[in-house]
Amino acid sequence: MNKKTVKDINLAGKRVLLRVDFNVPMDQGVVTDDKRIRASLPTIQYVLAQGAALIVMSHLGRPKGAGFEADFSLQAAAAALSKLLNQPVQMASDCIGAQVEAQAKALKPGDVLMLENVRFHKAEEKNNPEFAQQLAALGEIYVNDAFGSAHRAHASTAGVAKFLPAVSGFLMEQELEYLGRATLNPAHPYIAILGGAKISDKIAVIENLLQKCDRLIIGGGMANTFLAAKGCAMQDSLVEAGAVETAKTILANAGGKVLLPVDAVIGDKFDAAANTQVVDVDKIPAGWRMLDIGSKSVALFSDALTGAKLVVWNGPMGVFEMPKFAEGTFAIAKVLATSGATTVIGGGDSASAVKKAGVAKQMTHVSTGGGASLEFLEGKVLPGVAALNDK
Ligand code: 3PG
Repeated sequence: MNKKTVKDINLAGKRVLLRVDFNVPMDQGVVTDDKRIRASLPTIQYVLAQGAALIVMSHLGRPKGAGFEADFSLQAAAAALSKLLNQPVQMASDCIGAQVEAQAKALKPGDVLMLENVRFHKAEEKNNPEFAQQLAALGEIYVNDAFGSAHRAHASTAGVAKFLPAVSGFLMEQELEYLGRATLNPAHPYIAILGGAKISDKIAVIENLLQKCDRLIIGGGMANTFLAAKGCAMQDSLVEAGAVETAKTILANAGGKVLLPVDAVIGDKFDAAANTQVVDVDKIPAGWRMLDIGSKSVALFSDALTGAKLVVWNGPMGVFEMPKFAEGTFAIAKVLATSGATTVIGGGDSASAVKKAGVAKQMTHVSTGGGASLEFLEGKVLPGVAALNDK
């Protein structure tokens, strides 16, 4: 990465304004999955160990932008962080203003202050320069560790970098390093696996990865549209009628790199209690729908993965939230876990799939970014990364 990191700047005695992505799932005011908070701990601990005072800022959810809303308060995230750090974390009542500024300036080295949700102000998503400057006034150095939000050109992810020295944190650095391997100078054989419901969300990713990888395995709902493009009668399966022509074009230009499922676990309804059977993809009976890949497809895909040096996976192979349709996804996760390849897992559903399959720890890198990892794999320059200082 050609961007400066926390290691390239003297933090001692400074107030560090750190953007994290603590957009974490909550239930009744309690954080239910603290992966993203844990993922920023190395940066947080490093900054504190350097003798800096820390001001942490994040968004949470999508509040209206018209002031405080209890459902979107970062109070619970501050409590979770305090527990993980085993030290007090002060909670600010807002993210800008005289009171918060006084609180920030009173911090001593080693102290931590969590700002309230930056999206309580409309100016955040508008990347308003005055708002960005007010945020910047709280610190002396800006560190961005919020890879999950780096695709947003907002005040706290991009605008603030205009007013302070701006460097990346370790999580940001690690995400760019591993996802970068998928798009810049990848090791070969390089196999990409894409799944999830829709082609339309991933056309740009397919097009970008096809230029870099040796094989592209396609599963999940999006495989249905490709199979329909090849003439299979997909019956009640989810097929994006508007994307069949695109799928045909992709297949025609892919030079034989695309590998599709050959059999399917089908259900008679979209329901965890559906009746199921396994059939070849061109033999789906009327009234049934494809909801997972079958064992022949797992064998075919495993074979293609043998000897891979790099595997990038984004999107599940089936409806893995329902046990009857989870096997294909879990089987592929297990193949990756023992493959010996560098395995890079896109965020969102793929991250929960490897976790549910019990193999998350065996993956080389599981991204904390959903939309951000997808946009990165499309080959886009993320605004939150572009805003950081070059080395
Ligand atoms: C995410 O969860 O993908 C990020 O935190 C970004 O959230 P957003 O889609 O609301 O901008």
